[in-house]
Amino acid sequence: MRIGIMGAMDKEVALLLSDMKNIRSEKIGIRTYHSGSLYDKDVVLAVSGWGKVASASTATAMLIRYNVETIIFSGVAGSAADELNIGDIIIACQLVQHDLDASPIFPKYQVPLLGISHFKTDAKLKKAAISAAEKFASNEISSHIDSNTLSEFNITKPKVYEGLIASGDKFISSSEELAKIKKDFPDLKCVEMEGAAVAQVCYEHNVPLTVVRVISDKADSDAEINFPLFISKVASQYSRGIICNLLDRI
Ligand code: ADE
Repeated sequence: MRIGIMGAMDKEVALLLSDMKNIRSEKIGIRTYHSGSLYDKDVVLAVSGWGKVASASTATAMLIRYNVETIIFSGVAGSAADELNIGDIIIACQLVQHDLDASPIFPKYQVPLLGISHFKTDAKLKKAAISAAEKFASNEISSHIDSNTLSEFNITKPKVYEGLIASGDKFISSSEELAKIKKDFPDLKCVEMEGAAVAQVCYEHNVPLTVVRVISDKADSDAEINFPLFISKVASQYSRGIICNLLDRI
């Protein structure tokens, strides 16, 4: 089985790329797709760039050009729930596009002509991803990230949650903006900019998907400081640790 692995930014998947063997790289448009072996699995890895169009386009190329049979999206997100702290991990149960509104022609958030607003992730993959993330969080994190860096982010024992993720073409950096999104999605766990677009592509092609997100910021006025710090220091280590465990389970 060939597995597609995506991240929005180079830094989120850099260590995964460095762990790949027998790499063949090919450019389609502006993006490079790396095929090869990762932890003994046949994978295609690509950096999508930010946002829904970029990620949907990358997912489509993975499906059409590389015939991947499943997609894993790995990256960071802004917390949308009080209990979620920087360093905690969310595995998506469902994803929604919080900036999609074709009302009054279609209900708000519904994808026109698909007739749904929420995309469910694959149940088996979700279970595997939760187990992979829990193993990383409870036993392995300190072998991937040094103790000074962990304390810099106040990370001790990260928690793993499953739940709703909302995606939109907007970096959320104020409590007011976040509150507006949460009004319609009170159970929301986190916000990001790609997952629901990839979920729509996977739904349209009937391909299983899992989305793994680590909290890099709280989608508030500190997000512009917390997000780049997290990306530069720990995001790639999280992806490596969790995806290594996940590939072992599928
Ligand atoms: N990804 C990580 N943090 C985010 C935020 N605050 N808003 C949107 N996407 C994000």
